[in-house]
Amino acid sequence: PTEKGWMAKHLHQYQGFWHTTRQLTGVLACQKHFQAQDGDIFLVTNPKSGSTWLKAVMFSLVNRVSFPDTKQHPLLTNNPHALMPFLEMEYVGKENLDFTSFTFPRLFSTHLPLLSLPRSVEDSDCKLVYLCRNPKDTFVSLWHFTNKLRPIDWGSTSLEETFDKFCRGVCLYGPFWDHVLGYWKESLERPQRVFFLKYEEMKNEPRMQLRRLSEFLGCPFTLEEENSGVLDEILELCSFENLSNLEVNKIGRLHSGQEHQAFFRRGEVGDSMNYLTAEMVEKIDMITEQKLHCHGLKF
Ligand code: A3P
Repeated sequence: PTEKGWMAKHLHQYQGFWHTTRQLTGVLACQKHFQAQDGDIFLVTNPKSGSTWLKAVMFSLVNRVSFPDTKQHPLLTNNPHALMPFLEMEYVGKENLDFTSFTFPRLFSTHLPLLSLPRSVEDSDCKLVYLCRNPKDTFVSLWHFTNKLRPIDWGSTSLEETFDKFCRGVCLYGPFWDHVLGYWKESLERPQRVFFLKYEEMKNEPRMQLRRLSEFLGCPFTLEEENSGVLDEILELCSFENLSNLEVNKIGRLHSGQEHQAFFRRGEVGDSMNYLTAEMVEKIDMITEQKLHCHGLKF
């Protein structure tokens, strides 16, 4: 099916989730051609859940031995998305991509729902880090982001209209709740394979989450590293303040067109309260309760 209204001409439902025309070509190509390898690591997110942040964190964590000096770090001169590309976006208009030059372990990111991942990901011994964010902040962040991306002549998109669609599941990679639930259940069933993390947890207790993440990824911090402040260096390097003020993130675009700076807005928990009415909050909370609470997932 294709949805009418804003992005009408552009959103198509495939395997239960909504994609733009452009993304969908990439999704189909990567499902067909991508060859996962044992040891690959995937960051999986819903759009606007903090992917840019976790890309920076995971790259720094996994490659910390290669880049011990944070003053010479690749993140100072590369946008985080360049260091961990979006799988399905890489495959837009391409078939034969060669990722063999990537250093081990290979790092990829994706917004794909669990059941849409390329078959070889399921068949290989890969690790998936799923980062999610509370639906209210995710929605507001998405609304800002898509308004920035929208060509000027598409007309304005009200918060109300976009909200209605989000609640009906019609948004990039929506329904939001089904996306989260797929990975949540998988993380309960196969905790060695899926690490489930919330943006809010990462904000509230970054050191503890970084430690957990390092253990899951098989590169725990040594006592010496703990004592020498490596954890704090990574968190500082990847902080909103640091990343958003780097020249490389103020200029330039991804090859899919989005400006680097569009990925940095407020970077806070609870900003949605400045935008949503009491009725909106009630509605979205009710959906979250109905869809997720019975599975033991709360925000
Ligand atoms: P806001 O719009 O609420 O500010 P994604 O990277 O998945 O597109 O998510 C973007 C959201 O993550 C934006 O949220 C952005 O500001 C926030 N973000 C980007 N870098 C961050 C960082 N280093 N720390 C915390 N939040 C960050």
